[in-house]
Parts: sequence; structure tokens; C-alpha cells
Amino acid sequence: MPLNKENILIVDDDIKILELLARRLKEFNYHVFKAISVKEALFILKDTPIDLLITDIQMPEVDGIQLLKYANEHYPNMPKLVVTGYPSVDGALEVIKSGAMDYMTKPFTKTELKMAVERGLEHGRAHQASLATIPSRNQNLPFNEMVGNSTAFNQVLTIIDRVKDNRATVLIHGESGTGKELVARAIHYSGKYSKGPFIAVNCGAIPDNLQEAELFGYTKGAFTGADQNRNGFFQAASGGTLFLDEIGTACLDVQTKLLRALQEKEITKIGSRTMEKVDLRIVAATNMDLLEEIRKKNFREDLYYRLTVVEIKVPPLRDRKSDIPLLVDKFLQKYGMEYRDRLLRIDPEALKILERYPWPGNIRELENVVQRAVIMADGPIGVKDLPDFLKYDIDFPEEEFMPLRNMEKKYIKRVLVHTKGNKTRAAEILQISRKTLRDKLD
Ligand SMILES: Nc1ncnc2c1ncn2[C@@H]1O[C@H](COP(=O)(O)OP(=O)(O)OP(=O)(O)O)[C@@H](O)[C@H]1O
Ligand SMILES: [Mg+2]
Repeated sequence: MPLNKENILIVDDDIKILELLARRLKEFNYHVFKAISVKEALFILKDTPIDLLITDIQMPEVDGIQLLKYANEHYPNMPKLVVTGYPSVDGALEVIKSGAMDYMTKPFTKTELKMAVERGLEHGRAHQASLATIPSRNQNLPFNEMVGNSTAFNQVLTIIDRVKDNRATVLIHGESGTGKELVARAIHYSGKYSKGPFIAVNCGAIPDNLQEAELFGYTKGAFTGADQNRNGFFQAASGGTLFLDEIGTACLDVQTKLLRALQEKEITKIGSRTMEKVDLRIVAATNMDLLEEIRKKNFREDLYYRLTVVEIKVPPLRDRKSDIPLLVDKFLQKYGMEYRDRLLRIDPEALKILERYPWPGNIRELENVVQRAVIMADGPIGVKDLPDFLKYDIDFPEEEFMPLRNMEKKYIKRVLVHTKGNKTRAAEILQISRKTLRDKLD
């Protein structure tokens, strides 16, 4: 038997499986490291050069997906193998998207294990030899990045589920930072066409005079500088999804062309007379009121109706505050691992502050606050680690906002309780005349 010297790290919360795997791998002459939790695995990864990571998915506290994501970010060239007891199609998809290269379901035979391990190690060696870099995969890819359990959020998930396997055009509305792009990615990556490309184009970031060329491409000589034929984003996204972010900022010429592309499923490059078939799904997003833009003649009404075959309204965070604890948890995991190599907790007091704040910047703002707190905190996240602007709101939580008149009534009553009904005394405190007080009480 050849003498292998590779280091393999196995992560499984089930001791029996851990031992079994370790025994087999030792038989194959590998160095084996064992971890019964993600936490332990992180410690080992820090100190030991690992040639292959084998991990379970379902584990208490931090699951294998999180570990894989962390590993992809910090050890992109380390091959990963996933072992799981839950062979579901969705599970496999999640794993592949989180960057694991191979996937085995329990129980498996010795030969299956041996082959998977060898394949993994080979991959790792190939990478080292070519110094190729695996494209970064930590960009909000999959569905499982999205958390939330409010009714409002679940409605969004329901629509995603309905549209993921067809190619209906989708328009996503929502304030800035609500998760529109994540919704677009979820539609693409959870559906039948996920193997095709997902191309995100921010229309607002492309100057008007370049939008058409970028989207539809051009032929050589079509304009000064067009020194070769070039495909646009439509063709790049063929077979997959084209995400047109900030669609409200597309210029009118481009809107006309978009409408044609949606209707005919064909495009023409600038400078060309030939129509070319395109087969893709369009998902557009906006935080503008498009109906208002239509009234102002900035947006084509017919295009609007073409785009809104399916409409998804992503609710602002203030309308789904029950999602806040889950989101905070998610970001604590994400940034705890990133900056601290461990999971951080949050004090109930601090969480309460986060739950009360109205979050005008929505999830992005919440994420930034948690990220900053993780960097600042030296233990669990406490009230002191939160920015001051959150705290001003404590005495007037948003759900208790009321007309001034009602507030006044409440306050007067409160003062009267204090003076035990003594109106003269109350009028003194309030610095109004007794008569004014009497009028107000009426
Ligand atoms: N349901 C969710 N669960 C976890 N993270 C989320 C969720 N929704 C949004 N996020 C995170 O919040 C941030 C903002 O989301 P995203 O970029 O999708 O918002 P957006 O609506 O496109 O914002 P903008 O209008 O500013 O472009 C991202 O980091 C994203 O990962
Ligand atoms: Mg966006």
C-alpha cells in the first residue's frame, strides 16, 4: 500500500461516524484529524495544513454549510467532501452552491469513500499545480442565505417558489436594502435553470449612452471604438437569468429595445440587422415608484406591464420586525466567523434595542450595525457596542407613535395620577392655567 501523507480533517457531531471514518482513512494511510463540532474544526484548520476537509451538514449550533462557506473564503483551494444522512435534492444543491465539490450520502461503502477521497485530493493537487484560483463563491449565492419567518417574508418565499422553475419575467419592488438582489439570486439559484449563468446588471451604474451596447452588444465598426464584435449581457445570460437592477434608470431608447426583446425573445446588436434569438429569464428590480415614473413619462407603460408578469414586493424591515432576531443571528454567525473565528452571542437588552429601531436602511443597515458590533465587542454583543442613534428611540418605540393630541392626553393623565387628582397642582406642573387644564380635560 502506498504511504500517503495527506492530512484529512473529519467533522461530524456523531462520534460513531467520526470514529468509523477515521478508522477507514487511517487504513488508507492518511493522517486523520477529528472534530466533533465546527468550532473544533476551526481550531484545527488554524494550526494544521489540511489537504481535504470532510464534513457532515446537520450539526447543532453551527452547521456544515457555514463551515464550508468559511473554508471557501479562507482556504479556497482546499478540497471539500460532504457526508450527510439526508439525501435530498435540495440539500445537494445547497452543498454544491456553498462550494463543496463532492457529496456522499450515508451509508457508503469503503470503496465509495476511498474514491471520493482520492478524487478530492487529486483536485486539490491540480489546483496547487496550476495555482488556479477558484472563483469566489461567498457572494450571497443561495436561497439558504435568506432568513426570515414573518408572514410578510414567507409570502415572498412562496412567490419565489412558484416562479423558480419557469421563466416568467419578474419585477421586484422594494426599498433600498430590503434584499431585492438576494431575492433575484434565490429565484435563479433555487430553480430549474440554476445551472445557467446569473448576470446582474446595475442599469443605474451604466451611463445612458453605453446602456444599449452593454445590454445588446455591437458589431465591429458600429461606432468609433467598436473594433470587434461583442456580445452584450443578454447573450451572456443566455440559458440563465439576466438581473436588471435599478430598471427605473434605464434610458428610454433602451426601454424600447427591452420591450422588443421581451416580446420577441430576440435582440439585435448595434450595427447589425440580424435578429438573434435569446433564451433567458429577466428579473428586474427597482426602488422607484414606476407608476409615478410612467406619469412623468420617464418610464414606458407597456414595458412596465411586460415586466410585471409576476410582481414581488419585498417588505421593508419595519413591517417584519419579527424577522430581526433571526437576521441578527445570521449576521452574528457570518461576522463572528469572519472577524473572530467564533460565534458571538448578543445580550437580550441589546437585541431589544435592535428590535425596536425602525431601520430606514432596512436589512443592509441592520447588517452593518451587527458587523460593526462584532468588531467592537470584546464579549457578547452588549448595548455599549451599538451605535448611539439606535438608543434615542428607546423611549418612543415606533409602534407606539401617536398623534400629539393623544400624547398630551396621556401625559396630563399621568401628571394627575402624580398629584392624586389635584388640578391646581397639575396645572402648576404643566405651566398652564386651571381653565386651560379644565378645557383639555373636557
Ligand atoms: N432575508 C435575508 N436574510 C439574510 N440576509 C439578507 C436578507 N435580505 C437581505 N439580506 C442582506 O442584506 C443586504 C442587502 O440586500 P440586497 O443587496 O439584496 O438589497 P437590495 O434591496 O438589492 O438593496 P439596494 O436597493 O440598496 O440595491 C445584503 O447583504 C443581503 O445579503
Ligand atoms: Mg440591490
